[in-house]
Amino acid sequence: MRTLAIANQKGGSGKTTTSVNLAAALGEKERRVLLLDLDPQHSATAWYGVKNAGKGVLGLFVDGGDIQDFIQETGAPGVDLIPSSAWLVGVEKILAGEVGAETILRRHLEGLPQDRWDYVLMDCPPTLGVLTVNALAAARELLVPVEAHVMALSGLAQLLHTVEVVQERLNPALKVCGILACRVDARTRHAREVVERLRERSGNLVYQTLIRENIRLAECPSFGQPITQYDPRSAGAADYRALAAEVIQQEGRR
Ligand SMILES: Nc1ncnc2c1ncn2[C@@H]1O[C@H](COP(=O)(O)OP(=O)(O)OP(=O)(O)O)[C@@H](O)[C@H]1O
Ligand SMILES: [Mg+2]
Repeated sequence: MRTLAIANQKGGSGKTTTSVNLAAALGEKERRVLLLDLDPQHSATAWYGVKNAGKGVLGLFVDGGDIQDFIQETGAPGVDLIPSSAWLVGVEKILAGEVGAETILRRHLEGLPQDRWDYVLMDCPPTLGVLTVNALAAARELLVPVEAHVMALSGLAQLLHTVEVVQERLNPALKVCGILACRVDARTRHAREVVERLRERSGNLVYQTLIRENIRLAECPSFGQPITQYDPRSAGAADYRALAAEVIQQEGRR
């Protein structure tokens, strides 16, 4: 079972779009995926049309209980979901000062049957708070979506520093599996330059796949479907399938 945190503290970088559509594209390729929504904005949960999630994933952090009781099926083949809800907003305060708060999620994931899913994908909120740290402590791998804008690159150093701290103190096994350029408008020189600069800096950590700007990706949350179902022939579906193929190529390389 591969465990991937999908994180970037910069808002709107493509975390949720990547979590939902990579999950669906992996599902299409016969992989079984558990998507964990760790964001109080619960965008991934809403994307799959789950309305009555109760307190959702908050229960994992405060009530304990069996993680398997939180899992719901989605309409996408191969994809299960642990939903989030606005209740999660209070979690930072609730867990402040609690011993072992950073490793709650890791303990839950260790309790899962390890051969039931091939992938656990964790959609993180746009902060480096207790939820993202829980994901980084629980995951073996980190996938970083970045928006293809110069401004968006500036936060990357801070994120990679946090990764180093987490590696030292909580999770020596954590590795960056890849940096993903999102919302690339291939027609503009600016976007091409940003991708080039990213490759200069981070070299082979950058996925070959670029996620192009595609309006269909922005539309599909309203229809409760991932892009592979909403518009299987769109550029967005093609890009997330290409990413899934690249992610699958990394299997066994850890
Ligand atoms: N490739 C794309 N083409 C067009 N629109 C996109 C693309 N990727 C993301 N978007 C849009 O950009 C916005 C931000 O994307 P998304 O919600 O995935 O980012 P996020 O990192 O999860 O944001 P947050 O930090 O708020 O959780 C959304 O409105 C989404 O529809
Ligand atoms: Mg999001």
